[in-house]
Amino acid sequence: MSSTKQILALLRSRVEGDDDTFYSIALQVAASEARQGHKSTAEEIRAEIERARAKKSRGASVAVAFGAPRGNLEGLLELREPRYRLKDVVLGERLQLRLNDVLLQQRKRDWLREHGKVPSRRLLFVGPPGSGKTMSAEAFAGELHLPLFVIRLEGLITRFMGDTAAKLRLIFDETAKRRGVYLFDEFDAVGGHRTSSNDVAEMRRVLNSFLQFMEEDTATDSVIICATNHPSLLDRALLRRYDQVLEFDVPTEEQIKEIVLMNLRPMKAPRLAWGRIVDSATGLSQSELARAVDDAVKSAILAERQAVSTDDLLLRIRERSEMRSAFLNDAKS
Ligand SMILES: Nc1ncnc2c1ncn2[C@@H]1O[C@H](COP(=O)(O)OP(=O)(O)OP(=O)(O)O)[C@@H](O)[C@H]1O
Ligand SMILES: [Mg+2]
Repeated sequence: MSSTKQILALLRSRVEGDDDTFYSIALQVAASEARQGHKSTAEEIRAEIERARAKKSRGASVAVAFGAPRGNLEGLLELREPRYRLKDVVLGERLQLRLNDVLLQQRKRDWLREHGKVPSRRLLFVGPPGSGKTMSAEAFAGELHLPLFVIRLEGLITRFMGDTAAKLRLIFDETAKRRGVYLFDEFDAVGGHRTSSNDVAEMRRVLNSFLQFMEEDTATDSVIICATNHPSLLDRALLRRYDQVLEFDVPTEEQIKEIVLMNLRPMKAPRLAWGRIVDSATGLSQSELARAVDDAVKSAILAERQAVSTDDLLLRIRERSEMRSAFLNDAKS
């Protein structure tokens, strides 16, 4: 059983409305239960604390926590409402496990901190275009009930030439003040090769500041996610700063099927010729494939049909492949 002292301290913090102390004592109680070998009691207490916290953060503080950035931060951070959960993203098993692992560390961050451990919170998402990096960052925020702030470095650098590092400082200060998921999308800009020497100097400054800011501890445990298509452009010193580097890839056969099925809803699609669909979809990104299926569903709806056939899908998939090769040829010439 917990000591009388702990119960008294709990009562006092309750009376004073001091939530932080209240939860921290409750966590201590859980810790002492665990030390005495009462694992399930400890788990039960921790689960209750998390439930209470989640309820609270979804309730009273929502308006503030999800408020759009104002003042100095306006135009630097874009607030986005997370529309996805992790189950909406089709991912390889390993990637899923690793994402879940970080999620768990974030959910149980108080417990880790009680043990002197710091939860993982700096992530690098690497992978080809349209493989679900931005979507996963959104799902991550959705799972944690945190606001998602998107930062486009490329735009920031162009807009604030010479002053980008100061803007980055503002953003990192915000991560320390307000817990959230901060997504630095299209992050290659920082490591990218530039032509004009002006740009090179600015990029160096930005990179150095970024390195420095990434090292700073925050008590808020905000999650920082950087997403890029080109890991090779990123500085080695930068790669070392991440707690986890997560690799996204082109879809496997199994994932092609999953993405097709997911995007077919609410249409019926009986007896699809999966072999042919998978063959023709190979080479497309998750994003292109999702759009192809969506095209097929839309034309079925407009034709007042209830079902989508293999031929409908093959037609749309071919269209997307053609768009892709037209684009690639364009890029080459
Ligand atoms: N793994 C996936 N599972 C399910 N749908 C996906 C997946 N990846 C992409 N999609 C679909 O494609 C859309 C675009 O994906 P997303 O923006 O996440 O790609 P990205 O990896 O960030 O690409 P980019 O490198 O071009 O920014 C998503 O909104 C979703 O509809
Ligand atoms: Mg993206």
